[in-house]
Amino acid sequence: MAPTAGIESESPYEEPAVAPGDAVRHAHPRTYLMCPPTYFDVVYAINDWMRPGEPVDRDRAMSQWSALADTYRRLGHEVLTIDPVEGLPDMVFVTDSGLVVDGVALGARYRTAERRAEAEHVFRWFRDNGLIRPTLPRYVNEGEGDFLVVGDVILAGTGFRSDPRSHAEASAHLGRPVITLNLVNPRYYHLNTALGVLDDSTIAYLPSAFSPDSRDVLGRMFPDAVIAAGTDTDWLGLNLVSDGANVVLPVQASHLADQLSDRGYEPVPVDYSEFLKSGGGIKCSTLELRGFRGIRDESQG
Ligand code: ARG
Repeated sequence: MAPTAGIESESPYEEPAVAPGDAVRHAHPRTYLMCPPTYFDVVYAINDWMRPGEPVDRDRAMSQWSALADTYRRLGHEVLTIDPVEGLPDMVFVTDSGLVVDGVALGARYRTAERRAEAEHVFRWFRDNGLIRPTLPRYVNEGEGDFLVVGDVILAGTGFRSDPRSHAEASAHLGRPVITLNLVNPRYYHLNTALGVLDDSTIAYLPSAFSPDSRDVLGRMFPDAVIAAGTDTDWLGLNLVSDGANVVLPVQASHLADQLSDRGYEPVPVDYSEFLKSGGGIKCSTLELRGFRGIRDESQG
């Protein structure tokens, strides 16, 4: 049959393109583990940001941390806490102490002696709270500092902290493919300082923080990625936490916030600047407990 004008106008190829800003983003409720910065301090230097002797304002740190936790609750997420331990001034950055996927927990093993004990406290929390197969690793891994989950895949950083052999170890324990990425700029020493996960298939990252081969990998895997600028990453703008729609990020990373709005995400700016003194940010303070609700519901019958 000869096409008529009417049929032709219904051709799917002539549908108007949907502007990325109109994309509908879906928020999913999360469970986060956080550790209050009761003993937060900068007394040693294990990254380029830390200047021991520069005073830390603990009241300011505590109010910024509380505001972050309140922001998560306001967005409908659940915030659980682990008790801080005196003498562990970086324990607020609890994300570095583990990786939880489908309720299965892999503990951390820190590179530096200064943070080593943190891993044991968080590991005990995993055990006491019913996480599945909690295991302490053989190789150095700094938890979600260097491991980031994007959909079914785990991106894994190395170069400064986590041992590349920890990547296969994590893959075996968690049953997910792991992609190794090499970090090259000491200012972005953990993967989560150079790359943020926006949803199950989208990331934002700073290309110059990665080796050329890793840049190629990211370019192929995530052709639609948001490319961040150094002015934002200076404030650890990529150290963000997204629920798929709302993206909690530092208020100073305003250019990145605009990029995210253009893509249909809702930027949720918070001031978390006191923690930059230790080279830490929002994501560093937020360990996601994937699959935790299921475990708890089951244990409660
Ligand atoms: N002072 C801490 C360290 O160097 C900061 C860690 C921040 N965590 C992060 N995932 N970037 O280990």
